[in-house]
Amino acid sequence: MKKIADFKVVSIHHICEELFEMEVQCKESLEHIEPGQFVNVMVPDTRQTFLRRPISICDVDEKNNTLRFYIRKVGNGTAKMSGMQPGDMLNIVYPLGKGFDTDSTNPLLIGGGCGIAPLVYLAKCFYAKGIKPTVLLGGKSAQFLTLKTYFKDIADIYLCTDDGTEGEKGTVIQHSVVNHVEGYDKIYTCGPQIMMKAVAKIATEKSIPCMVSLENTMACGVGACLCCVTKTREGHKCVCTEGPVFDVLELDGFIEK
Ligand SMILES: Cc1cc2nc3c(=O)[nH]c(=O)nc-3n(C[C@H](O)[C@H](O)[C@H](O)COP(=O)(O)OP(=O)(O)OC[C@H]3O[C@@H](n4cnc5c(N)ncnc54)[C@H](O)[C@@H]3O)c2cc1C
Ligand code: FES
Repeated sequence: MKKIADFKVVSIHHICEELFEMEVQCKESLEHIEPGQFVNVMVPDTRQTFLRRPISICDVDEKNNTLRFYIRKVGNGTAKMSGMQPGDMLNIVYPLGKGFDTDSTNPLLIGGGCGIAPLVYLAKCFYAKGIKPTVLLGGKSAQFLTLKTYFKDIADIYLCTDDGTEGEKGTVIQHSVVNHVEGYDKIYTCGPQIMMKAVAKIATEKSIPCMVSLENTMACGVGACLCCVTKTREGHKCVCTEGPVFDVLELDGFIEK
């Protein structure tokens, strides 16, 4: 069940000018959270950002009632969040949307850019079930792959960067793991749409089920404004309530022929 609550910023870590991690804490116990679900954040004190901003849940610490976010500064809302200090408060609606299932015994997780964020908690959920997932992460350069530390003991991890500063040089699609996907029984991907489309195409060609997490622009986050709809084989669906995670076979026109 979704809740609305005030969370305290407990830490904020600036990775570079563009990226930061934020940990927030709720006074009450957290609701049950599925990997791949997201929150809708009310950015305080600004007229330019009166709509809440959707952010993926990167990690959950149920003992301390904390959520972790990994955020790229792209506009007013995320810039305002990056300037917050420990002790500041954020009003958050959570947990939103339908997340990833963990119905796989040999999963491959592929993340790019900020799309790496929800894969942290997904990998943790697999590991808690006794499954060590394979994780492939791609970024522009090494500083875009700092979330790799969270996968260290819970996944077999492979990296690539556009400029070759970490892992193989090139995109995830060019990586050697993607050239040998046959053994995996499900692929989970989140990142730039162009990357997810390419991953989904490869998965489908090899008859491997594939879950993608869409990042359509959102406003209400609860199925009321219809601004986030995507085309599916059963008609239009709201990404905020029916997704953001979809089985790629459910989506209409996602895989280019
Ligand atoms: C389900 C979901 C989960 C997300 N998870 C994360 C996350 O974990 N970390 C993170 O950094 N971002 C995430 N995003 C994207 C994030 O919501 C936007 O970057 C943010 O709302 C931009 O707000 P702003 O006020 O800073 O920028 P705005 O001033 O609103 O926009 C600035 C620029 O960012 C672009 N933008 C706005 N919204 C989006 C969007 N949804 N996707 C891509 N570009 C957008 C705009 O087109 C514009 O060019 C997620 C989006 C969705 C829908
Ligand atoms: S964001 Fe309003 S319906 Fe999805």
